[in-house]
Amino acid sequence: MPPRTQPDRLIIFDTTLRDGEQSPGAAMTKDEKIRIARQLERLGVDVIEAGFAAASPGDAEAIRAIAGTITQSTVCSLARASERDVRAAGEAIRPAASGRIHTFIATSPIHMEKKLRMQPDQVVEAAVKAVKMALEYTDDVEFSAEDAVRSELDFLCRVFDAVIQAGAKTLNVPDTVGYSVPAQWGERMRQLIERVPNSDKVVWSTHCHNDLGMAVANSLAAVMNGARQVECTINGLGERAGNASLEEIVMAVKTRRDVFGCDSRIDTTQIVPSSRLVSQITGYPVQPNKAIVGANAFSHESGIHQDGVLKHRETYEIMRAEDVGWSHNKLTLGKLSGRNAFRTRLQELGIVLDSEEALNAAFARFKELADKKREIFDEDLQALVSVDANLDACDRFKLVSLKVCSETGETPHAHVVLSDGGNEIRADEFGGGPVDASFRAIEKMVGSGATLLLYSVNNITTGTDAQGEVTVRLNREGRIVNGQGADTDIVIASAKAYLNALNKLYGAEERAHPQV
Ligand code: KIV
Ligand code: ZN
Repeated sequence: MPPRTQPDRLIIFDTTLRDGEQSPGAAMTKDEKIRIARQLERLGVDVIEAGFAAASPGDAEAIRAIAGTITQSTVCSLARASERDVRAAGEAIRPAASGRIHTFIATSPIHMEKKLRMQPDQVVEAAVKAVKMALEYTDDVEFSAEDAVRSELDFLCRVFDAVIQAGAKTLNVPDTVGYSVPAQWGERMRQLIERVPNSDKVVWSTHCHNDLGMAVANSLAAVMNGARQVECTINGLGERAGNASLEEIVMAVKTRRDVFGCDSRIDTTQIVPSSRLVSQITGYPVQPNKAIVGANAFSHESGIHQDGVLKHRETYEIMRAEDVGWSHNKLTLGKLSGRNAFRTRLQELGIVLDSEEALNAAFARFKELADKKREIFDEDLQALVSVDANLDACDRFKLVSLKVCSETGETPHAHVVLSDGGNEIRADEFGGGPVDASFRAIEKMVGSGATLLLYSVNNITTGTDAQGEVTVRLNREGRIVNGQGADTDIVIASAKAYLNALNKLYGAEERAHPQV
């Protein structure tokens, strides 16, 4: 059979909030998920997999909140092929302007026998039943054959045929364990599309994990063979070695349209801001040499390359940094800039603050920053609003003041004053460095007993007056939280990040890992 003509639109299904959240320590609060979902909408993703409703009431609530907020993307919940899961997903997506249920069951012999303890006939029956039940809530139902990579092709065809007849509109073929190689994965997609009856009535999708470092290559091979939906995550975040990275898939099809024959509707200028936001919220840094979003992705070190780029950019560049949202530390505002200029620049950056109060709070922080830092860049503004979003008027602990003493040959010392629910408390401590001393002083007052899992500092722009953005990850009795802080003084940024994490630990919101 000749290959059928495929539509030229590639559907981008982002699963940062579901598979991405399965990365250790990446569990997010509802508010953090909403912030990421809004950014994904701005980025132009077609489908946002907002979570796994049956996993926990917190996850269901976050999906419901996202479904009630997002208007431009479809909001989806994952559900195993069981009544309880499908109904939980259906209820969670109810407020969505456009909602999808993504139901799945494993189809490989090893999963069916050892994990599900089900016969193949029972698996087909469960898949069909789940799809039919999901259709009671929405006509946009996706079915995934988990561990498709190790499933028998004949059986996969049988399951997919059955779920198409049951009414599924999107069929997802996952490489759950990251085992495939591109030629094999492309061939699997080609054969499925060729053999499954009515395959042209549905969208074929792929979902690849990165255990052998081939998630993006495998996904693209599937696209070359007819897949028109790719499931991916920002920065390739995800279970174990991660998922296929959204930015690489999007830029590959855009840059090599000659090869892939399709394109997405992603606003690529929102890629870097999305990457930053996800990295900042999850505490997962982006490696400098990461394609598209790594700090070095567009910098030329070799003299020969620099010379070439200066003479003609395309000698060494296949994409333009500004097209993926690198703003080259563009100087935007200064100390004398007014509220209107501030609001306008935020709008130009695609940042919409919810209320006048949020704008006023961000503007006050901007003025504070402009007093310390002569030049304010777009990146500073982005950090400023995302840090603002972390601050909650109801936070129990607030930093009042911090004094550190660090001198050659002396043990660093910190004096910290906190507001604990409005009461000022203070403590002194020594430590291995000023950050350590500050954290010890804070812990002396709070007595959380939490262990520090991660401490990372990134400079937001270049130069020694740049703001440092700090992420702190704490674990208390299995509850893991991330805190962020930014300041031109990295000790203060660190203390803010530590307090932000503590406020989450002491806050009302339960943040257990959704899939525990
Ligand atoms: O990796 C996987 O198989 C999944 C499915 C639930 C699609 O995440
Ligand atoms: Zn997965």
